[in-house]
Amino acid sequence: MSALPTRRPLGLPGWGGGVALALLLAAAASAVVALLYDTAGAWATAQILVPLGLTTVLVTQLLVHRRLQLGGLRRQAALLGVLVAGQLAVGVALFVSLMFLSTHDAIFTALIAGYASALGLWSARRLGREAMADVDAIRGTLDAVGKGRRDVRTGVAGDNEIARLAGEVDAMVSMLDNVERARHTLIAGVSHDLRTPITALRLLAEAIDDDIADVETRRRYAARMGTHVRALGALIDDLFELTRLERADLAMTMEQIDLAELVEETVAAMQPAAEERMVLVSALRAERGDFARANPEKLQRVLFNLIQNAIRHTPPDGTVTVRTVRVDGGFEVEVADTGVGIPEEQRDQIFQPFFRGDSSRTQDGAGLGLAISRAIVEAHGGRIWLAPSEAGARVRFLLPSG
Ligand SMILES: Nc1ncnc2c1ncn2[C@@H]1O[C@H](COP(=O)(O)OP(=O)(O)O)[C@@H](O)[C@H]1O
Ligand SMILES: [Mg+2]
Repeated sequence: MSALPTRRPLGLPGWGGGVALALLLAAAASAVVALLYDTAGAWATAQILVPLGLTTVLVTQLLVHRRLQLGGLRRQAALLGVLVAGQLAVGVALFVSLMFLSTHDAIFTALIAGYASALGLWSARRLGREAMADVDAIRGTLDAVGKGRRDVRTGVAGDNEIARLAGEVDAMVSMLDNVERARHTLIAGVSHDLRTPITALRLLAEAIDDDIADVETRRRYAARMGTHVRALGALIDDLFELTRLERADLAMTMEQIDLAELVEETVAAMQPAAEERMVLVSALRAERGDFARANPEKLQRVLFNLIQNAIRHTPPDGTVTVRTVRVDGGFEVEVADTGVGIPEEQRDQIFQPFFRGDSSRTQDGAGLGLAISRAIVEAHGGRIWLAPSEAGARVRFLLPSG
């Protein structure tokens, strides 16, 4: 890991700038004295201010160079306070002694200067403490996150640099939490879905091994084993596809495609499966020559998943309709069916990996189809959602035309 280069070396520019500022301000103050009183006063003012200012710049420069050895921000703030107060005290003392003020005036001036610096120190401390409490909150949060907790937040509000940093820390913790939850669900789903067919395979293998099984029975078991192995293969392919989609850069393989043609092609390919279930599948013709930028294989995979789901959840004599419309910023494709529909309480979940509704438990399919479709659509810069519908399901996705 390498640190990002954010620190500039503190060299001569700051130093030269400080000296220039000290001299300029001293000259300005002397000029004011010259205008109001006389040149002797102006000269005395310059004699006091110039050494004082230069010393301050020198001490500041030393502190800046030694910043890393100065200790915590609290100590740095305290040093700053001491520097300001010290300067004020020395300045007042010099003015009192050089300007030949009356003792009476001198005492008053010293008292006011002392009072102002004491209160100044208090304000600096007070403000510093508030800021440090925020820094401590951020450190505490990061500490807890490092120890594995994900339910912690800094709780720092406001509109300053520290609050923005805290906001970024909070956002990072939320994201970490979500990613870990998703991974957890995925792993739980994978283990569950692997266990079921593997148990079945083990039982079938034992049954085949049994001496009393005749040839015909063994052949039947072997055929069943084949089905399970194919399902396992499909599951692993889907998982592989899903993880690859999360990393892959689809933009590399995008091309101009005729959307209407792709939809018609996919619908035609699904006809046999639909006929088998006596469901009528049709594409509502979009304008030909509606070109979209997409990866044709991946987009076809989305259409295939949606149409397959629609066919599976639609009883005989039902219909599945694929409709493409041009909308602001791209195309919307909708796959609507007249089937059982999706229960209200499942609407948020169906795009999650491994989610399957009860009606699908007995069918094959690992509950990855919609998750894969969502990953593909999002990789195209679009989004996919469930549109409201009276009867049946309506899954719709937006494909941006950019
Ligand atoms: N057209 C549909 N009608 C009713 N339910 C659907 C439809 N499409 C998806 N679903 C629900 O969403 C779940 C997830 O779908 P999907 O991710 O494709 O997984 P799978 O098809 O493997 O079950 C399905 O199990 C089903 O409960
Ligand atoms: Mg499916």
